[in-house]
Amino acid sequence: MLGARGGAALQRIKTISELRELVAVWREAGESVALVPTMGNLHKGHMSLVHLAGEHAERVIVSIFVNPTQFAPDEDYADYPRTAAVDARRLSRAGVDVLFEPEISEIYPGNVEGSAQVVVQGLSSELEGAFRPEHFVGVTSVVNRLMNVCAPDIAVFGQKDYQQLVVLRRMVNELHMLVTVLAGPTERAKNGLALSSRNSYLSDEQQAQAGAIYKT
Ligand code: PAF
Repeated sequence: MLGARGGAALQRIKTISELRELVAVWREAGESVALVPTMGNLHKGHMSLVHLAGEHAERVIVSIFVNPTQFAPDEDYADYPRTAAVDARRLSRAGVDVLFEPEISEIYPGNVEGSAQVVVQGLSSELEGAFRPEHFVGVTSVVNRLMNVCAPDIAVFGQKDYQQLVVLRRMVNELHMLVTVLAGPTERAKNGLALSSRNSYLSDEQQAQAGAIYKT
């Protein structure tokens, strides 16, 4: 449960070895662990996933990693909003135990392009995957690594990215991974627009117009 550690400060961890040592201590004490993978720039939507995680496990790890392998070369990897200091304060106030913020070389040792991939066949190349062929392979490849590193009982994802959620559930089932995937409902702005870090790319006018998608 969030805050169960009695107000201890958020630990910011960058290495797999340090994180594994801490998770082993929790395991030794019989505590359950939840992971909330994110790419940072946290908003109310992410925080609702963090709270859901805290309702189902004694320890909560939030990862912030802007994963290069899920962006196509012409996408917004370089510009993706990075707000680590603000995010860390938010997670600390919420009573999260660990912010895991690895470097790229920690997650993909060696050559990123040549590194092992996890592919959920079929669905990864349909719908959004038809337009973004690299995207879901990048997502499953990184989430698989994050789960291997954190060994959580539970991992929490948003229903907002519904295809991602289904692809990840398939990965967990097909690879017999010992983790339960929980889904959190979509948080919306007053006009119905789903909260998303990429909404910052829209002007005020575009944000107002985008509410029509939900209403429709
Ligand atoms: O939904 C996201 O923010 C990302 O796709 C995820 C699941 C953190 C993997 O990088």
